[in-house]
Amino acid sequence: MTRILVTGASGLLGLNLALQASRQHEVVGVVNRNRLVNAPFEQMSADLGSPEEVQRVLAFARPDWIVHCAAMANLEDCEKTPTRAARVNTWLPGYIAEQAGWLGARFLHISTDAVFDGETGNYREKDTPNPLSTYALTKLEGEQAVLTANPQALVARVNFYGWSLRGQRSLAEFFYNSLSAGQGVRGFTDIFFCPLLVNDLVDLLLEMQGQGLSGLFHTVSSESISKYAFGVAIANRFGLDANLITPTSWMEGGLLARRSPNLTLNTEKLSTVLGRPLPGIQPGIESFYQLQQAGYPQQIQQLGGVA
Ligand SMILES: NC(=O)c1ccc[n+]([C@@H]2O[C@H](COP(=O)([O-])OP(=O)(O)OC[C@H]3O[C@@H](n4cnc5c(N)ncnc54)[C@H](OP(=O)(O)O)[C@@H]3O)[C@@H](O)[C@H]2O)c1
Repeated sequence: MTRILVTGASGLLGLNLALQASRQHEVVGVVNRNRLVNAPFEQMSADLGSPEEVQRVLAFARPDWIVHCAAMANLEDCEKTPTRAARVNTWLPGYIAEQAGWLGARFLHISTDAVFDGETGNYREKDTPNPLSTYALTKLEGEQAVLTANPQALVARVNFYGWSLRGQRSLAEFFYNSLSAGQGVRGFTDIFFCPLLVNDLVDLLLEMQGQGLSGLFHTVSSESISKYAFGVAIANRFGLDANLITPTSWMEGGLLARRSPNLTLNTEKLSTVLGRPLPGIQPGIESFYQLQQAGYPQQIQQLGGVA
């Protein structure tokens, strides 16, 4: 049985990954401020901002694989505290990647589609990034730190949505929660992305790591959609009122961090390796709906001790 260390195990990706991986593997999940209640995997609390804490976690976990999901992932927080963003998003992944190399553990680092400026879209792995925000810059430097410290590492640029610990982390939850409450929201018509359902992303990441892939891979949906159209698709599947979503330009949105308008990533490199296309948008939304019907959001939120 493979022993997997998952950092960020209270986050949207890390929690779903730890839950899915723990069905077949031994999982140790690292949380920071959010402790989990009755998690079906081993749990450690640590602020991974120091080498000592990283060493303590690695000595306890003795992992075969490390999936590094912990990050400072809020764009506005990164603009406000850039030094902390650099510590968490750049120094930390580079340091854990180096330690993984020493330990002989396979290392998977999670990066972002936002490393690109979104001027053209259809970005391939070999295209030159141009980050527009502190978040994007620190994540790009994190990728570079990882691949320099550990050339065998796997780096996945992702974008995803799903059901989270507090029920509020993902864009799909935002649309679902707001529309269910009859609340009007804005949907950006000029930001395009390729969101994957987090549970589908987890399956892909575990498969990629199982195959021993290394290097950079765009790991997003094979299809692109505007944030507005995504909201409408969520509304339609859940039988909610799509007219509550006002089509808006992101420039009217009052956001602090600059957004990249077209984050369509080309997934051909990964689909060629796997021998099949990556999932499309509509099947992901259907699974998101089916998970809700099966009570998955409540199961996840119980781990936060709130549901
Ligand atoms: N969400 C998206 O659509 C998206 C898009 C592109 C890329 N990504 C990338 O995907 C990864 C996962 O994102 P997410 O949305 O799952 O993030 P998230 O929900 O915000 O979770 C972040 C996780 O990192 C942990 N963390 C933060 N600082 C830490 C520290 N100093 N020490 C230890 N743990 C720390 C948090 O722990 P506590 O909560 O316990 O403090 C939490 O578990 C990140 O690398 C992110 O950049 C996300």
